[in-house]
Amino acid sequence: MRHIFEFVPKSVKPSTGSFIQSRLSGKLLASVVSNRIKSTAASRPRNLIRGRFKAPRLTEVEAFTASLPFDRRLFRHDIRGSAAHARMLAKVGLISKSEARRIVRGLMQIEREIETGRFRFELADEDIHLAIERRLTEIAGAAGAKLHTARSRNDQVALDLRLYLADEIGTLADLLDRLRRSLIAVAEQHVETVMPGYTHLQRAQPVSLAHHILAYVEMFGRDRQRFAQALERTRVMPLGAGALAGTTLPIDRRAVARELGFPRLAENSIDAVSDRDFAADFLFAAALCAVHLSRMSEDIILWATAEFGFVQLPDEFSTGSSMMPQKKNPDLLELFRAKSGRLLGDLTALLATLKGLPMAYNSDLQEDKERVFDALDTLKPMLDLAAKLWPRLTFDVERMRAAAGDSALATDAAEELVRAGVPFRKAHEMVGALVSEALAAGKRLEDLTEADLRRYCGAHAHAIRRLLSAQTSLRRRRVIGGPAPAEVRRRLAQLKRQ
Ligand code: ARG
Repeated sequence: MRHIFEFVPKSVKPSTGSFIQSRLSGKLLASVVSNRIKSTAASRPRNLIRGRFKAPRLTEVEAFTASLPFDRRLFRHDIRGSAAHARMLAKVGLISKSEARRIVRGLMQIEREIETGRFRFELADEDIHLAIERRLTEIAGAAGAKLHTARSRNDQVALDLRLYLADEIGTLADLLDRLRRSLIAVAEQHVETVMPGYTHLQRAQPVSLAHHILAYVEMFGRDRQRFAQALERTRVMPLGAGALAGTTLPIDRRAVARELGFPRLAENSIDAVSDRDFAADFLFAAALCAVHLSRMSEDIILWATAEFGFVQLPDEFSTGSSMMPQKKNPDLLELFRAKSGRLLGDLTALLATLKGLPMAYNSDLQEDKERVFDALDTLKPMLDLAAKLWPRLTFDVERMRAAAGDSALATDAAEELVRAGVPFRKAHEMVGALVSEALAAGKRLEDLTEADLRRYCGAHAHAIRRLLSAQTSLRRRRVIGGPAPAEVRRRLAQLKRQ
């Protein structure tokens, strides 16, 4: 006979990251991870919702269908929601004040039991909601049995996930802010550091390192907005929808929303229990944020090659090779790149789960949580580590400057001709011929003499010769959003005020 644990999904251990430990205290983490979930016929607890059945479920079925191994991560939020629900029940007179007190006290005791690893998780409980309710009936007896009045697990789980995600999005926003501040601090040191800007991965026009870094800051700024929007759609209170059609009992949904800090109520009970758009919004924001981290990683990986030689990775962030003693590998950044694929997978998996679902709640929706948890566990360490990496990168400023000079100034030369009245297409052609001659002679554009230039640009040769330096080129691109130091400083000041 196969052992029951073969069917238990892997525990919910978050990947890494000090901030995770700080949110989930070390002790709690250990208890959530180490508490094996038990399921033996002898210790089988009374199941709260199997009154109509004659036989218990097959243990394999129990193990396969249970969400407890992963949704116990929601215990705090489940308890918060239940306490608010109980207070509301007392407020409208569906239970007495003293019953509400016993329920809330029982819930607090359960929270401590879970935090200290004393709570007995049983697979037969199916999920965190029934596990807590079962224990509450043990602690608070008849009062505990009243908690689920006018509530279904369908609106309960929607509430829990929304509460949990709202907190987590707050953490992500903080991490994003930290990363942006770290990038801004590095950018401030490199406003005058000229480097080649690339299109098609070919040297195109000189930019500054600061300007390049601030491009990431803009990307992560949009991520920040997207998380804020996802948060707005997450903070909608579903409780009161019941299974899907509300309740005949005189509940007060507004009181629950107020206590839990939700600004809005779900306005349709069917939508309230079937909607996971907020999770999809979040997963999209997370996936795109990871894509941004991946693109940033790819830049640094390229810059750290001997071919580019723009940057040195810090030892603390690099890995060696098991065979080649000289190697210093950017594994961390390669994994950032790969993990963005994983986040795309989380988003795709949820969308695929939602796509064929009839209204309203279906058990398929139980699969939403692991995607959300995985996305959080993957993205949070990435943001944390990226913020720590940037201040430790060592840039070879001289090498960047030298690379920027290399024939990347042709557009500036053409623009100078335009100033003198030459139509841009004509100027493009003239400078193209110049570049071709320089290449044939093995020279760089800035090495050409005024006499060389005169053959192609006639009277404009002098003006162009004066401009042919990457530094000058940079200074003159002062257009709003451009790389000129003056413009970059303006944007930096604006970003720092945000
Ligand atoms: N464990 C379920 C989930 O995660 C809770 C809701 C279950 N509702 C039900 N009717 N089976 O979605």
